[in-house]
Amino acid sequence: EADLQSKLPLVGKKILITAGPTYEAIDPVRFIGNHSSGKMGFDIAYEAAKLGAQVILVAGPTHFKAKSSSVKVINVVSAQEMYDACHLHYNDVDVAIAAAAVADYKPKVVATQKIKKAAEEFSIELEKTKDILASLGAIKKEQFLIGFALETQNEIENAKLKIQKKNLDLIVLNSLQDEGAGFKKETNKVTFIDKDFKIEPMELKSKESVAVDILNKVILHFTK
Ligand code: CTP
Ligand code: CA
Repeated sequence: EADLQSKLPLVGKKILITAGPTYEAIDPVRFIGNHSSGKMGFDIAYEAAKLGAQVILVAGPTHFKAKSSSVKVINVVSAQEMYDACHLHYNDVDVAIAAAAVADYKPKVVATQKIKKAAEEFSIELEKTKDILASLGAIKKEQFLIGFALETQNEIENAKLKIQKKNLDLIVLNSLQDEGAGFKKETNKVTFIDKDFKIEPMELKSKESVAVDILNKVILHFTK
């Protein structure tokens, strides 16, 4: 058993991961979305499976497919659907990692027919989506809860605020400043900040390697 633990340190652990963008419908043919590819979340899911974990991956629209039978993918479209899928499974998991780029706002009303072009100016009224990660933090029991943060100013301060507001154990701060990091890229430059505000800047590396670094934090948590 000791041998199994060293080779597959996450065996027996269930991990919930969110990935990709969400699409918020405007009408039957249009939506508000973003450029998230879903790669970071899918990489974390695959690396977690390789370490022995059972993974539930709640994914917004993406072309990625699970590369392991230990990863169960739940495909969703909107923030509300992602919220519902996460809450269906959250009580059963040991770890939750929110890598999705969830839309912050959605159209207040969704037109049932395609909106026709008419006036010179046109605006859509938006309302906030539910903050999925904050809602998981609010009902957290034993789960180890990890969030991401994308900031362009006061990065560390804003990330610390997110740790507190969302009741996180760890946040992965994405640096957009650095060439090669972020959306649609193969690499990421991240800084880890834990709930005691210990700051750990990481090197620019592949998203697969960032995924391994994140899972090493999870393993460390369970070996303490
Ligand atoms: N998140 C979420 N549900 C939302 C918005 C964000 O679960 N409706 C999660 C993301 O998956 C990420 C973390 O919250 O793990 C932070 O997302 P981010 O966009 O950086 O922060 P926000 O809280 O949305 O604040 P802002 O965009 O204003 O910086
Ligand atoms: Ca946001």
